[in-house]
Amino acid sequence: MQVAHKTVLLTGANGGLGQALISALLEAGASKIYAACRAPERLTQVDPRVVPLTLDVTSPVQIASVRRLAKDVDILINNAGLNCQQRLLDAAEPEAASAEMAVNYFATLNLCRAYAGLLRERQGAIVNVLSILARVALPAMGSLCASKAAAMRLTEGLRAELASAQVQVMAVLPGVIDTAMSRDFPGPKASPEDIALAIVSGLIEGTDTLYPDPMAQQVAQGLADDRETTVAGFAAFL
Ligand SMILES: NC(=O)c1ccc[n+]([C@@H]2O[C@H](COP(=O)([O-])OP(=O)(O)OC[C@H]3O[C@@H](n4cnc5c(N)ncnc54)[C@H](OP(=O)(O)O)[C@@H]3O)[C@@H](O)[C@H]2O)c1
Repeated sequence: MQVAHKTVLLTGANGGLGQALISALLEAGASKIYAACRAPERLTQVDPRVVPLTLDVTSPVQIASVRRLAKDVDILINNAGLNCQQRLLDAAEPEAASAEMAVNYFATLNLCRAYAGLLRERQGAIVNVLSILARVALPAMGSLCASKAAAMRLTEGLRAELASAQVQVMAVLPGVIDTAMSRDFPGPKASPEDIALAIVSGLIEGTDTLYPDPMAQQVAQGLADDRETTVAGFAAFL
């Protein structure tokens, strides 16, 4: 999948990774980026190729409205995400589980449904920004892990359904990124700029599953080498 001269629809465009993705996509020569987010006035990029759109991804009405406006999309990037940092049991905010599923799973599904026909016609691409926690449960945010795991299965199913139409479907599984979402995490974090560059490279190289940073690569290797020990290590983070 080439990025140069392509049109991209990006959700969560005002977030930390979203803004870095806009810069990386422009640098790679994208001809247009529909920068979709709940508050387009918060977008900082001023480039004629960036078209701000209002989109709460949980709103089917707003998805339909974006679909009517953005008719020339080659690459759909489902980047909007929600992490309420809640356990599965004894959650301080039990409703967080459905809020996370609404953003991380159902919105991704609904956007893919809205754009699948067009992406088939244009032999385009879908990028779903998930998390390494799609592959292993961190109990302190077990609810987020379950929603990202659901989105991982969704991504694999979409890839199978779209393979004959030559639509690339890429899962991105980052470790911790230095954005507002992980502001309270004290450990090492990947820069959103590095993750965005890795995503652009993954598109160009036709990657299916991208582990874009050292932490994600280390966890993926641990799961491949010794799944039980890796899972037990994460389980200790209650
Ligand atoms: N940061 C990390 O450590 C990390 C690690 C692994 C994966 N990820 C994933 O990376 C992606 C980008 O997150 P980030 O790190 O850039 O965090 P961020 O700066 O907090 O950005 C999250 C983005 O998602 C948007 N969003 C949330 N709910 C939405 C909704 N209902 N409709 C539309 N947009 C919504 C936010 O919009 P508002 O500003 O309007 O809330 C914001 O633009 C997410 O999918 C996240 O799960 C992040």
